[in-house]
Amino acid sequence: MFESFQSTVIIPALTLWCIHSLISLVGTTRKLSHIPSIGYSDPILSYLSAVALLWDPPEFMREGWKRIPAGVTFVKVPLLTQWIVLPVHPDGYQDVARAPDHKLSGLEALEDILLARFTLYTEEVGDMVHIPNLRSELNRSLGELVPCVHEEADVVFETEFPLDVNGSQLFVAFPTLVRMIARISSRVLVGLPLCRDPDYNSMCIDFAMEVSSMSYLLSAFPPFLRPLANRIFSPIPGRIRQATKFVEPLIAVKKSRIAKKDEHETVTLLSSLVRTAEQHNRTERDVVLRLMLTNFGAIHTTAITFTHALFSVLSRQEYIQPLREEIKLCIEEEGWTKAGMDKMRFLDSFLKESQRYDIMGSTIGHRVALEDFTLSGVFIPKGTTVGANMINAHFHPAMWGDNARDFDPYRFIRLEQDAGKLILLPTSTLHSLSFGYGRHACPGRFFAAQEIKLLMAYFLHYYDLELEGSNGARPKNSWVGNVSLPDMKAKVGIKRRREELG
Ligand code: HEM
Repeated sequence: MFESFQSTVIIPALTLWCIHSLISLVGTTRKLSHIPSIGYSDPILSYLSAVALLWDPPEFMREGWKRIPAGVTFVKVPLLTQWIVLPVHPDGYQDVARAPDHKLSGLEALEDILLARFTLYTEEVGDMVHIPNLRSELNRSLGELVPCVHEEADVVFETEFPLDVNGSQLFVAFPTLVRMIARISSRVLVGLPLCRDPDYNSMCIDFAMEVSSMSYLLSAFPPFLRPLANRIFSPIPGRIRQATKFVEPLIAVKKSRIAKKDEHETVTLLSSLVRTAEQHNRTERDVVLRLMLTNFGAIHTTAITFTHALFSVLSRQEYIQPLREEIKLCIEEEGWTKAGMDKMRFLDSFLKESQRYDIMGSTIGHRVALEDFTLSGVFIPKGTTVGANMINAHFHPAMWGDNARDFDPYRFIRLEQDAGKLILLPTSTLHSLSFGYGRHACPGRFFAAQEIKLLMAYFLHYYDLELEGSNGARPKNSWVGNVSLPDMKAKVGIKRRREELG
């Protein structure tokens, strides 16, 4: 049965798709021939360069950038099925970020990367009308939210690390941190009591994994077969039904509280989404889809950022004491509050350096041209993907100095003291792109920064931690395509600090 399906459907479809990809690559190569290439320009040979990029993105980008002739402002870089056009200098991304959405579209780029029409229902919720409310309500309420995050951290740490005075435990860092962050973030996304429901949190984590795996699976099908393949294989509609069961009763409560102008309503993303749905006359399904879309963007990004930072602290033990001294002083003066977090300047600098150094990907901020467009004098034909080279931005010596390739946790303190440049964890600049840049820079970054700081302060203040089995060396990151990930299997030993036992 499978063999006949394979010979009559899959093989011809894949062959057609390969021919179609090659013809379109030849076509786009011709249209982009005025833009110099990194690696081979020929469409067939460019596959070799695409493989070299997949193999070692930092090396490919660094070597390629060294060979760019003076005066070139944009280059094209080969991916397996298309080219991506990148500004040569980090400042060149300014014009990309400023371009209107109807010319350079982030949504269309999401479609390319995640097949978002199928996986994230962007045909229904891609208008992103919820973002202004999310941005203003979340950021205005940070002072109120930080103590909630702390309260949730108390419960989550007890659940994950039920340690007595002499007890110790070994945990696999990444999955544990994903669980902890899913739950702590959910306190702010959906509030109590749902955030403490393990089934709800597992559903959020599974949804994110399924979006990624479905986008890989669907992209192996030619476009005309994707709707069918999606219908046959996708677990995502089932997840949305599951999410609806969890969230529906809460939506009703939020609606009635909003109607009564209940002053005691704690800010959550869900209340902001219900308000958005009322303003735009949307259904409950709309609220659920936007919640899942935000969950997808919030949980794993925070967990990856945090895991990188934890590995960086634990592999540089000499900074733990000064970090602890700062944390202790700040919580003595301000408690576990936003004011306390804001005072932790060294911790902020350490975390920002970790974000600069251990980048999340080689390129970021992708946009697709919806019409022919001229960018800083360079013609960009309709359908071209443009973005920013994150490796170049985060390691550019003109911005970061001769030690750009070293990990320097005091970098951001010195930048403020010596050059008057205040770059904090949530700051996004053309040289610091982890949260994107410009109009579409991450609206959740101020909250994410508070959450990450509080979690790191909590770990270091109450626990002794140690990387397992690596003689203290940092577990190696790995590249999966364009994305860089921390070691997913690395283990950390944990025990309570005697001097901080309550
Ligand atoms: C460390 C954690 C996070 C990182 C590294 C991160 C990173 C990013 C990046 C790179 C973008 C895309 C910017 C662009 O295309 O130019 C983005 C967009 C977005 N993020 Fe985050 N994010 C994080 C946490 C969060 C959280 C906690 C939330 C919600 C509470 C959130 C909500 C969003 C939304 C709604 C967008 C879309 C913005 C738009 O299209 O205008 N993110 N984020």
